[in-house]
Amino acid sequence: MKVTRTSGPFGMEVEKVQLAQLGRADLATLKELLFSVGLLIFRGQHDLTPTGQTEFALRWGEPNVNRFFQQVEDFAHIAQIRKEPHETVNVGEGWHTDHSYDLIPAMGSILRAVVLPPAGLGDTLFVNTQMAYSALDSTTRAEIADCRAHHSSRHIFGPDAPTRSGTQGRVGNAQAAVQDVLHRVVIEHPVTGSPGLYVNPAFTRSIVGMGEPRSRLLLQRLYSHCQSDRFVTCLSWQPGTVAMWDNRLTWHRAVNNYHGYSRLMHRITIAGEPLAGSRPLPS
Ligand code: OGA
Ligand code: MN
Repeated sequence: MKVTRTSGPFGMEVEKVQLAQLGRADLATLKELLFSVGLLIFRGQHDLTPTGQTEFALRWGEPNVNRFFQQVEDFAHIAQIRKEPHETVNVGEGWHTDHSYDLIPAMGSILRAVVLPPAGLGDTLFVNTQMAYSALDSTTRAEIADCRAHHSSRHIFGPDAPTRSGTQGRVGNAQAAVQDVLHRVVIEHPVTGSPGLYVNPAFTRSIVGMGEPRSRLLLQRLYSHCQSDRFVTCLSWQPGTVAMWDNRLTWHRAVNNYHGYSRLMHRITIAGEPLAGSRPLPS
């Protein structure tokens, strides 16, 4: 196994390894790496089948099956992230953290490129929210230290969401979009204990206990800080690329610049563990 830095500010590229036949020592190394840097990019996984991807995923934990995406036939754990040539909307164009609307949010995802648009199109961008937190000024850190934020799935996946079910391979499951939860704005990573921001533009609705205008301004300020080039790594997909990220310390977004082409990814999401201070929001 060969591990090198990405060309961005964080994340590691991993080569010379077969994910379907990973040795125990390599797995332990990868776990330590993922939980500290947040993003692993595996190249050359041309032989990884849906079965192999599933076996690799199971070594990290229990799969957490997404409620809103079509599954791959015969592979109940694999969600399709799909855009067809006639479609203009993709999945995940805005910055987000997968499943932050759940009380126990998913640990992370393993995304395998199946069909790609021409090279250089359809990249995925990642933000490291621990780096962003560390770079905040002390006044802002004090301001958010004890805050909690409301996260929800309703406005994205619910019946009234602007991109409705039936597009982008989503299943018509809007009635399942009923998650509302409070998480701390600054969480400690459940494995490493490192602090990071845990609000994201897609699923975070507001910071509780402050008026709406102040909450909106503070979130906007945190979001634009996070998007600074200092914290953003760009993944350019190649045939055989597999990416894995840790949702507790990253955001990501799928660049939607490939209209007229197909793009298909297979995603397996792994369950996470409770975050200190999270609680369900009484409805
Ligand atoms: C996802 C996602 C990004 C991409 O699978 O959660 O946001 O580039 N995908 O397809
Ligand atoms: Mn996503």
